[in-house]
Amino acid sequence: MISLLFIVLLLHQSLAKTEKDYAIKARLPSDEEELMEMLLDGYNPSARPVLNSSHTVTVQVRFSLLQIQDLNLRNQVLTTTGLLILDWVDERLRWDEDQIALKDIVIEARKLWRPEFASINGADGIYGDYGQFRALVKSNGSVHWEPGGVFKTVCEIDITYYPFDEQNCELKFGAWSYHTTKMNLTSTGDEVNKDSYEQNGEWEISSTKASRGEFYFACCENERFSNVNFELRLRRRYTFYVMNVILPSMMTSVLLLSIFFCTPAQKVQIGVVVLLSFRIFLLNVTDSIPKTSDHIPLLGIYLTLTMAITTLSMVLTVFILNLHHITDRPVPTWAKILVLKYLARLMCMCSYEIYAKLDQDPQIRDGHRISESASLGKAIGKQLNLLTKLNGSLSGSKNARMSRRFLLPGKKTQEDKKKEEEWTRDWRLLAEVVDRLFFWIFLSAIVITTLLLFHPLTKGYFSIYSR
Ligand SMILES: *[C@@H]1O[C@H](CO)[C@@H](O)[C@H](O)[C@H]1NC(C)=O
Ligand SMILES: *[C@@H]1O[C@H](CO)[C@@H](O)[C@H](O)[C@H]1NC(C)=O
Ligand SMILES: *[C@@H]1O[C@H](CO)[C@@H](O)[C@H](O)[C@H]1NC(C)=O
Repeated sequence: MISLLFIVLLLHQSLAKTEKDYAIKARLPSDEEELMEMLLDGYNPSARPVLNSSHTVTVQVRFSLLQIQDLNLRNQVLTTTGLLILDWVDERLRWDEDQIALKDIVIEARKLWRPEFASINGADGIYGDYGQFRALVKSNGSVHWEPGGVFKTVCEIDITYYPFDEQNCELKFGAWSYHTTKMNLTSTGDEVNKDSYEQNGEWEISSTKASRGEFYFACCENERFSNVNFELRLRRRYTFYVMNVILPSMMTSVLLLSIFFCTPAQKVQIGVVVLLSFRIFLLNVTDSIPKTSDHIPLLGIYLTLTMAITTLSMVLTVFILNLHHITDRPVPTWAKILVLKYLARLMCMCSYEIYAKLDQDPQIRDGHRISESASLGKAIGKQLNLLTKLNGSLSGSKNARMSRRFLLPGKKTQEDKKKEEEWTRDWRLLAEVVDRLFFWIFLSAIVITTLLLFHPLTKGYFSIYSR
């Protein structure tokens, strides 16, 4: 009994199924199906969409930028996300709206003829597969297609003004096989569409430009290829670099200036610290710039220059240290006049001039002469001493001792001591004036390099106003 009921149930179900199937088979094709059938019957997507093959297909191209993902300075590659907006007319895709009540239809672009756009300056690919994007076809045959993706393009980087640099990157799309007479890519509008653009943290778009160009080989001027270029002018947001590289290195430069106002021992210590910190900044900078010698960043020049200044100042410190400790010689007259008179005046250290003038005092000049003759005497004495030594070794030591006592210079007189003090003072003054000279030289070097470093910033502001 139960099995009979089961069979009846099964029978009923299978009957219902065939009824449903029948309903599907009997359904008339929908408008869209009918239209697609009609449009794509015998349609070859490889053939150009013109009925007369001597006609040109004109494709209008726009670019809508969605995002700047990355600008790799090292590899000089710009990665962007965006879409190309393409419009053209396919003469084979026309229908009468009275016959089929549809204004437009969306068709997979794979099934249609698509304009060819190769990413000419592509970094890792020239052709992309955009067939899965759908196209909107209107009854008069106009086709609207928006293929998009991630575009990697080569961008020549100029880091001269890093981090105040502006990069000019281009996205170049063009025909690879079709001549301009077959397919003409044209640009509508002269800007890149930024309606759905999302800001990038590091780069700011200062301006964009869209333009059309033609390319041909030198041999065949008639066979031109059209291309559309989208130019992005990117300005770096430099606050990060100002805070992390430029301000610290400027502060270190100021620290460097303090070297000229401290004792020689401190000088060397501070100098080494400054040198090391500049090296660190330099490492920081060279880490993120391309390894080419085409463009050398001003910041690198600035840091290297400051390092050179620091090294030089340490060498000079040693030199000045030596000047400080001279006691046994007078300052040469030429150095006295040059440094204490002219240089001191130049450096606004006029009080030092007195010491230079002292030199012209006849008394001191005489004293100078005396000391000169004394040193001459010493030299003669030394010679004689050598002679008597030789003599002594020949004719006994008594004679030698006698002559030596005769030739030995007398005890240090009060006058000698005074002279020595004077020499020391002169050397110290000389060292001070030279130190001050280097201070001014370094200060101006730092100011000039800093101004050079920041000059693109002012240029940027001026160009904003002039635009
Ligand atoms: C194709 O177009 C050209 C120029 O527009 C014309 O001279 C020619 O007659 C056309 N051919 C046909 C088959 O319509
Ligand atoms: C097709 O029709 C649309 C409006 O539906 C119009 O904007 C477009 O210019 C037309 N294209 C041609 C080639 O007539
Ligand atoms: C292609 O289009 C440009 C303008 O967009 C026009 O100047 C040029 O003559 C066109 N070329 C051909 C072969 O139609």
